[in-house]
Amino acid sequence: MALIPPDIIEDVRIQTDIVNLVGEYVKLEKKGRNYTGICPFHQERDPSFTVSPEKQIFYCFGCQAGGNAIKFLMLIENLTFVESVRRLANRAGIYFPDPEKFRDHKRAAREERAWKANAQAMEFYHHYLLNSPGAAQAREYLDGRGLSADIIKKFNIGYSPAAWDALLSYMAGLGYRPGELADYGLAVRDKGRTFDRFRNRIMFPVADAQGRVVAFGGRVLGQEKNQPKYLNTPETPFFNKSKVLFGLNLARQAIRQAGYAVIMEGYMDVVTAHQYGIYNVLASMGTSLTPDQGKILMRYTRDIYMAYDTDSAGVKAAARGLDILQQLGCRLKVISMPEGADPDDFIRENGVEGWREIIAGAETLLEFKLRLAQKGKADPVDVLAEVLPNLAEMKSDIELEEGVKLVASRLNLSWESVKGEIRRFKADQRKIRVKPDKIAKNTYNIIKSDHTGNAVSAAEIGLLRAVVENPERLDYFRSALGDDFFQEPLHRDLYQAIAGKIDRGEFDPPGLLDELEDRAAALLSRLVMEAADESNISPGRDTEKVVNDYINVIRKNLQAKKRMILLQELAQAEKNKDIELVKSILKKLQEIR
Ligand code: GTP
Ligand code: MN
Repeated sequence: MALIPPDIIEDVRIQTDIVNLVGEYVKLEKKGRNYTGICPFHQERDPSFTVSPEKQIFYCFGCQAGGNAIKFLMLIENLTFVESVRRLANRAGIYFPDPEKFRDHKRAAREERAWKANAQAMEFYHHYLLNSPGAAQAREYLDGRGLSADIIKKFNIGYSPAAWDALLSYMAGLGYRPGELADYGLAVRDKGRTFDRFRNRIMFPVADAQGRVVAFGGRVLGQEKNQPKYLNTPETPFFNKSKVLFGLNLARQAIRQAGYAVIMEGYMDVVTAHQYGIYNVLASMGTSLTPDQGKILMRYTRDIYMAYDTDSAGVKAAARGLDILQQLGCRLKVISMPEGADPDDFIRENGVEGWREIIAGAETLLEFKLRLAQKGKADPVDVLAEVLPNLAEMKSDIELEEGVKLVASRLNLSWESVKGEIRRFKADQRKIRVKPDKIAKNTYNIIKSDHTGNAVSAAEIGLLRAVVENPERLDYFRSALGDDFFQEPLHRDLYQAIAGKIDRGEFDPPGLLDELEDRAAALLSRLVMEAADESNISPGRDTEKVVNDYINVIRKNLQAKKRMILLQELAQAEKNKDIELVKSILKKLQEIR
């Protein structure tokens, strides 16, 4: 985004009226200082979508989508940041230079050329599949697998001819040299010769979130020996497979609407789901999920379902991916299909109704892991050891309570002993790696299970809102709490971004929105919206008292945290019979009180 000259973005922002823009898509009604309407990003009956003309921000209190005009157009039209700014510039009659002029570095130009080459190859393969006699068998195969003509079009599925240079010569006609096609992964160089990488394969184009074609998966027809079933575009400077999810470009809107995403294993699973009208689905392309993929997904939802084959390799891959997602803070469920079936088979056999049922019956990650562990192990202590890491990662009290309850009842253990094991596990972890952020995280979980978590989170939001409303309060908070008191990473990130701007004297919420990741931007939109609303902190109520209450909640919690750490150290010191240490810890404990 830094690629567009900032003054153009500024002009676009000043000259676009968000109420006007949103009004082209949503019927808005004036309510006090704001406008409200039915949210276009999720299904609802009562309007919770709010637009503030003063602040030039929108926010939905139902689905938490929020941002400025640029963001709104990105979401509703599925655009990149640059495209959205370009459209708004055109709309306002602002001169928008040719992208080549400001994206001066060569890399961007080459990247665009790689995408274009892939898009043209996609057209070629697709056209070949639909029209050529050479693709008759492929058409038959796809027909046999039940793919409709519409769905083949929607995904631009194609076929690569059974020749060494079909794509090469077609692309030569469009001005692509063989070496260049090899750079993009479309051709292979071998002993001085260059030839088509994909031959005789059903071609699945893989797009990034913006719909640009970045790669292909090529499937052999039927069962062929001595050949991998799928051949994928290799990693190139233009394609990083750990950052791409198949189907994301077609699923973004549906994921927001449904409130969750389903991750499947294969291309065919996603394609079939679409054919049955199930759109909130993605595929990880055979590998286990990477943290990058998880982060991309979390821009759209935190509720993620995994639908992997239940054969053992699939289950292991699923379990790995799930741990990664849980660590990122996702809420996970596992869909278990009948033995040997993948979503493609399952949906064809059981239809959308069956799919809904199996989704409704999905297990939480903990249930899933418990079941797996119980299958192989008889001793409840061993099973408990398997699921302790998951329990220790749990982010909220409610989740943890439920988890403890479930594990205790399944394994016939008392709640107390399960809780005790979790505590011990966390303490051990602390000993193993003394990473400060890990300590903070574990202690955070302990504190949260003391039921102060929600109050603290609310206080953090309250402070943020107070700063957004009046940036001059920042100094006051700093002197009261220091600079690093946030527990929720999201709150901390947003605070740091805001504080940085205030320190440089350039705090302007609509401008800052463009620099934040999606969740932080949505939160800021909400805060701006609430700060503008008199029912929150504002004259008439004793603002400073409210603010001081927030500070007190956070302070108390910080103390409780310190106390908890000291108590744990104390227990350890007593165990080691280290009298001196015991004394000094007791002294510190007294000081806190
Ligand atoms: P069908 O067998 O046609 O139903 O395809 P599928 O998509 O269900 O394939 P499968 O469940 O066997 O594999 C899941 C995913 O793993 C595929 O979509 C590919 O992305 C990947 N995959 C499978 N086989 C291979 C292979 O031989 N090589 C590579 N690189 N990837 C593979
Ligand atoms: Mn399959």
